[in-house]
Amino acid sequence: MMPGAIDTSGLSLRSDYFGDPLAWRAFCDLLIDIFGIDVTPLEMLGGPDPTCMPTGFFDDDGCCIANLSAFSMPLMIDGEIVRAAGWQSGAVRPAWRGRGLFRQLMDITFERCSAAGYEAMVLTTRHPGLYEPYGFKTLQQAHFSVPMPSHPVSVPVAPTKDPLARRLDIRDATDLALIRRVLAERTPVSNHFAVLDQSHMLLLNAWLSPSVSLHWLEHTNCITATEASTPDRLSLLDIIASNIPPLTHLHAALAPAATEVDVHFPPDRLSIHGGFETTPAEDGLALMMWHRDGTCPTGPLRLSPMADF
Ligand SMILES: CC(C)(COP(=O)(O)OP(=O)(O)OC[C@H]1O[C@@H](n2cnc3c(N)ncnc32)[C@H](O)[C@@H]1OP(=O)(O)O)[C@@H](O)C(=O)NCCC(=O)NCCS
Repeated sequence: MMPGAIDTSGLSLRSDYFGDPLAWRAFCDLLIDIFGIDVTPLEMLGGPDPTCMPTGFFDDDGCCIANLSAFSMPLMIDGEIVRAAGWQSGAVRPAWRGRGLFRQLMDITFERCSAAGYEAMVLTTRHPGLYEPYGFKTLQQAHFSVPMPSHPVSVPVAPTKDPLARRLDIRDATDLALIRRVLAERTPVSNHFAVLDQSHMLLLNAWLSPSVSLHWLEHTNCITATEASTPDRLSLLDIIASNIPPLTHLHAALAPAATEVDVHFPPDRLSIHGGFETTPAEDGLALMMWHRDGTCPTGPLRLSPMADF
């Protein structure tokens, strides 16, 4: 084989195969084998994202050898709506690595996104070097935290008819319908950097993550996503609402005894006296973005873990 040539012998290149049950199953097996992530719960959550454009290599037995997908992930960036595609599920089975399969999938996916008119592409990766040749740049992610006055749980601090938030169960059909309804009406959780209306990833992340809790705050028509933390900390992952309630209200309803709130998205829409402390996020996972104008958002930002993909 010539140096740099791509060895695809014995493989078929396929696109948009989620409608084929056998190919969908083979794709799910690839993700289980490579990442240990089972995405079949999507079948109970309304099916895979219809905007998703998978491209992959299959062998003669129908085994999915390699895949890379892109899906619609419109973003709010500095007050502007950006028509972005998220790249995900990039994987090659070990025996087939180093033959250029992934390079070909990246080339095809980049072409497909450009042809579909996406002005930006985003992804998360532990291997930024894979994507830098295409012009993807790493965005600096941050943690945000703010001290809060704690309140004894028994003393209501806000005149609400329902001071305690109700925990939702995504596996309950009534609760799932409520989550979908609120998701359909959501406003971006940040004007600086947030997803606009991507709901498939939020539902799947909530389903797959036992440490994530969803709560319904009926009086503010709002669902929060929080993560188990120590009793003195409230770890806020996302707010799903048509109006973002004040942080003091969420604190009072969710964790009144907490003396610190950690916010996992840019807190520009959380009205609160005093500033947030901002520290660089160092979890080894890079958030990367390509924009056709070469521009990328600056300043500390973070993609809500509920939009992680
Ligand atoms: C990363 C992975 C997809 C690469 O697949 P592959 O088919 O072996 O890649 P290719 O042979 O097409 O190589 C593509 C290019 O990336 C480079 N590359 C391969 N692995 C890399 C890595 N971990 N970091 C940076 N560059 C890498 C290759 O040198 C090659 O460069 P070139 O085209 O300039 O010669 C594969 O190793 C894999 O599935 N890993 C586990 C899952 C994973 O990490 N997925 C990526 C998620 S973002």
